[in-house]
Amino acid sequence: MQAEFITVTPQYRKHIALIALNRPKELNALNLQLMGELRDALVALDEDDEVRVIVLTGNERAFAAGADIKQMAGKGAIDMAKVDQFSTWDKIKRTKKPLIAAVSGFALGGGCELAMTCDMIVASETAQFGQPEIKIGVMPGAGGTQRLTRAIGKARAMELVLTGKFISAQEALNWGLVNRVVPVEMYLQSAMELAAEIAQMSPIATQMAKESVNHAYESSLSEGLYFERKNFYLLFASEDQKEGMNAFIEKRQPDFKGK
Ligand code: CAA
Repeated sequence: MQAEFITVTPQYRKHIALIALNRPKELNALNLQLMGELRDALVALDEDDEVRVIVLTGNERAFAAGADIKQMAGKGAIDMAKVDQFSTWDKIKRTKKPLIAAVSGFALGGGCELAMTCDMIVASETAQFGQPEIKIGVMPGAGGTQRLTRAIGKARAMELVLTGKFISAQEALNWGLVNRVVPVEMYLQSAMELAAEIAQMSPIATQMAKESVNHAYESSLSEGLYFERKNFYLLFASEDQKEGMNAFIEKRQPDFKGK
């Protein structure tokens, strides 16, 4: 089915898919339909062997200004629990392929949480990050209190979550929330360059490496090391491992097939 609030280009560049959030009048506010479309697109791209890396973007003015406040305003606690919007987020989090957020303008509330759900963030100089839910009488619900705290530390996360203030792209870079900051006309290109570097690698290895890094958030060090080791051993079942190591020994570029 044609999506209404996102556009999907499976081969924007070789092996790189682009998803653009496309609800510009509402600053890409994340309503339930948009999030469902995003989940479905990511599931489909995960299954597409030609796609190795996915870039998620918005537009110059807004990556996303948060969950859709108008859709939530009249809801009660039981309505919210029944809708269970965060099961969609859980599925998005389970995307296997590397996911890069290319962020310009507002990345607020659920928008900041969505960027943090991605594996890396490339920001334009105009990007602003924040968790302003406190100003509308609630708090982050899509991982903000957890991911922001892990990314920038307790003191800074506490200040952002309790005051709702925004930080600039440069501050986000200094605090380790984003990978790089570039002029606004370059942010998508810069994200594509990063994606292209990763797309050259064995897609099996990148997916297992991503899974292992993410495991660091969810386990003790010894469990994480054990998980990493299993994935490391498993990669020796791939043709790409033979190709990569032989190419090194033969002093040539590897040609990874994802097998
Ligand atoms: N939900 C619904 N609509 C939104 C929205 C949101 N999160 N953010 C912006 N919009 C709409 C505005 O209502 C406005 O629509 P109308 O033209 O129909 O009035 C349109 O987008 C443009 O917005 P503004 O006129 O407000 O633009 P601005 O440049 O003056 O301000 C802004 C921009 C500072 C981002 C401001 O829109 C704003 O504060 N937005 C809300 C940010 C927010 O609180 N986000 C958290 C949401 S809750 C959440 O995300 C929970 C969670 O953890 C999952």
